[in-house]
Amino acid sequence: MNLRSCFLFLVLAPSAFGADNRIIAEDKSLKACADLVLKGFRKIAPTRDVRFQGKVAEATAICRGGQQALLLRNTPWVDWSHYFGTADLASAPKGLLTKNGPAFRGVSGALLDLEYQRMELIKFNLFDNSGTYKDYAQGRVLKRWDEMRLPKSDPNYAAVGGDGTQTCSGQLIRARTLTGICNDVLNPAMGSTGQLFARNVEFTTTFPDLGANTLTQNRHAGRLALLKPDPQIISRKLFTRPQSHPEACNDGYGLPNDSPEANCDYQKAPFFNVLAAYWIQFMTHDWFSHLEEGHNQPVYMKVGCETPELGCRPDDRIDRAYVAQDTPPANPLDRAPKTFANTNTAWWDTSQIYGYDETSLKRVQRDPKDPAKLLLVPGAKGELFLPVLDPSAPMNPQWKGQEAAAFADNWTIGLSFLHNLFVREHNSFVDEFHRVAALTPNADSGLRNPANPRKVITYSEVTPEELYQAARLVINAEIAKIHTTEWTPQLLYDDVGYKALNANWNGLFGNSNPQATKALNDIIVYNFGKSKDVEKSSQWYSVFASGPGIFGLGSRAKNYDITNPETLNAGVNHFGSPFNFPEEFITVYRLHALVPDLLEFREADKDPNKIVKKIAVVNTFEAKATDAMHSTGMADWGLTLGRQRLGVLQLGNTPVFLQNLHMGRLDSKTQQIDVAALDLIRDRERGVPRFNEFRRQYGLRQLTSFDDFLPPDATDSQKQLIQSMREIYGTHTCDSSKVITDAQLNPDGSPINDCLGHPNGSVIDNIEDVDTVVGWQAEFVRPHGFAISETQFVVFILNASRRLFSDRFFTSGFRPEFYTKLGIDWVNNNGPGKPMIEKIATNNHPPQPVSPMKRVLMRNIPELQGELDYVINAFDPWARDHGEYYTLAWKPRKGAETDDAFK
Ligand code: HEM
Repeated sequence: MNLRSCFLFLVLAPSAFGADNRIIAEDKSLKACADLVLKGFRKIAPTRDVRFQGKVAEATAICRGGQQALLLRNTPWVDWSHYFGTADLASAPKGLLTKNGPAFRGVSGALLDLEYQRMELIKFNLFDNSGTYKDYAQGRVLKRWDEMRLPKSDPNYAAVGGDGTQTCSGQLIRARTLTGICNDVLNPAMGSTGQLFARNVEFTTTFPDLGANTLTQNRHAGRLALLKPDPQIISRKLFTRPQSHPEACNDGYGLPNDSPEANCDYQKAPFFNVLAAYWIQFMTHDWFSHLEEGHNQPVYMKVGCETPELGCRPDDRIDRAYVAQDTPPANPLDRAPKTFANTNTAWWDTSQIYGYDETSLKRVQRDPKDPAKLLLVPGAKGELFLPVLDPSAPMNPQWKGQEAAAFADNWTIGLSFLHNLFVREHNSFVDEFHRVAALTPNADSGLRNPANPRKVITYSEVTPEELYQAARLVINAEIAKIHTTEWTPQLLYDDVGYKALNANWNGLFGNSNPQATKALNDIIVYNFGKSKDVEKSSQWYSVFASGPGIFGLGSRAKNYDITNPETLNAGVNHFGSPFNFPEEFITVYRLHALVPDLLEFREADKDPNKIVKKIAVVNTFEAKATDAMHSTGMADWGLTLGRQRLGVLQLGNTPVFLQNLHMGRLDSKTQQIDVAALDLIRDRERGVPRFNEFRRQYGLRQLTSFDDFLPPDATDSQKQLIQSMREIYGTHTCDSSKVITDAQLNPDGSPINDCLGHPNGSVIDNIEDVDTVVGWQAEFVRPHGFAISETQFVVFILNASRRLFSDRFFTSGFRPEFYTKLGIDWVNNNGPGKPMIEKIATNNHPPQPVSPMKRVLMRNIPELQGELDYVINAFDPWARDHGEYYTLAWKPRKGAETDDAFK
């Protein structure tokens, strides 16, 4: 669904209903639609202070959701989550002539709201730290930046043009490079290892505790510091999982012999499994890291804990974060006062498996018998696993005994499972390639070499290195597809999430109308993409791209030429700002609450409904993951992670073990750390604005008191948490003469001041001080089926799509010249051969192709095939009944009635 179709539908919808009496019931709603159409659609905001805040006019709300859509209008939260059809069956229009029309209006209206958000985010929220911001701020959509040149120290400096114009060519453009250079052929350094993290918020609003300008001084009045309010008190009072039987949890260690009688309480998400929790840890290890080889600066600091009786440890210490630049710039438009380097490639290039620099590459082991493959070795029972890290490989001492992977830090059983799975998948692709090559050695593999672009490279001529690199591209695109079309729609479990994400990948028409897709693709790339008009080449480009889909944009050109930089780069769009993740993105990915304390272990070859052991997650950490994996195997772990529900991302739900984590590398008395408190400290070190300003910066509505977090039907424990928040962050007597932000204005156009709409001199909550990680976990009000909050979501709307838009290999480079013909088909069809179609349909969709993750699991762990018969989305708990329409009910499917998890 794209914006244009939303427009068309909303214009045509009213005339689709005849003069039937039943219409009276929806008369109001339709009149409101007509009203909306007559008034026309809103324009993209000319300045940030008047942007769309997810709040629509009353007529619009009624048109899309009837009276129920007015429910959230006086709250800070976005309106669309109450439109028709955007939740489960209860959101279907009631007593109306037809259900489909209004539901379509509701869901497409929601998508329209999200498109407005995305356009304005692209326009207002890209703050590159490397010196290019001034041009973006002036509306100049540059395609090449001096700041993205390779430095003299780079071994490829001369190859890309040295002192002259730098352009990548030859071997450097054929595949993903180790450090991520030359993904963008005109900007060789973009996204490469060691580039600076960007920001999504105004530079002047970062590092609020420095009080460097009047606005931040007025906003926080000197109340903030690195350890103020005390992060460990916040962790203990607001994050701790309450335990009904602490003795059965035993601080997250469970009971002797992994007894199934152990129990650690946690709030569970019925629609999302533990596999999904580890999936996102696996992804973040691909995208970013602030640490170098698993450590920070060799300088230790206190981490708080003024009140040890709460259970924290005053003697805990942590190493200070690395800082790239720690003095403010001469010109505030140049960058934030401090910057930090991403020690990983920012590209979605599976660098956690394949490496991101020379050091990490040494941990990656290729198969000496077939160098196109990664090495797998038989375990005690003959099953193939990754080898353990070679003792000669560079490693942090605490990684000893772990399985070999480029990104080795914070290794868990889930990472072991996913790394093993995708290394198997890499080798499965290579095997299939060899099979096809043996059958048709002289056929065209699709691969081309820019040194001799017209020469066909046959299957038999493909070298092991070329095959290894092509396999990497395939695995990588497959992972991006799983994340976009399978993991994320389950994270945002409603029809809005499903349609938005599928349009990003497959386009509006899927495979049903290739001509329309091609025509749209040409319009986007060659007309919008080349336009000098910034609104067209950036904001509208992003909207209309969901017609053909972002994936593969610019790859369908007839005269594609791998020696022409313009052709190579045709499909990428950075919207005027070089791509890297912003610090704010890391903040919303601090998802430690997803992890349970105990894993409900099951055996695939016995009764899958039985939980035979409860294994403490902490006993599967680092090298302990190797024993856990090898002693049982991939099938048992797949079943275990697939059936268990993950933790809800809300206050009061942090794993007990993460608050008390032992880390051997720490030079401190306790050698322990509270990871949840550390999440707050790291964000403070990196100057992430506090929650309310964070929301204003992203175009969301501010809160005016802690009570705004509470839903109308708040539980006692939610009320208690908000009361604790008030005790921790405090209150103050407000002063309406102090302006606190320039990101937004009050509805009457006046500046927002310290009183946030309360009378001058009244005592108000210090809502401005709330750490962002605390704030988003306190969002008890959220759209249906959302495992994340709307604040996290808005960060994803911008950055998740940019990760596709900016990457040559996901846009114009999705071609056989790089992937091979077999590779292109593998990505499109989710594996070898023709696409497989599901027998079961869910959520009112026609039967879907068997999902890519399900295919990867079935292919590489065949023991799971029976279990996966019922699974549509591999991240939905495997024994759950899918129900009719986006149900969140925790009910067993047929055959799983005796599953212990449903007792
Ligand atoms: C057993 C599971 C896990 C353990 C033991 C663990 C441990 C840690 C530790 C110790 C850090 C702090 C590094 C530092 O700043 O010094 C960290 C950072 C982080 N963790 Fe986890 N984690 C786990 C699971 C997850 C999961 C499921 C996610 C989901 C996305 C996640 C996301 C992050 C992020 C985003 C950071 C910040 C990284 C950075 O600053 O570059 N972690 N984790």
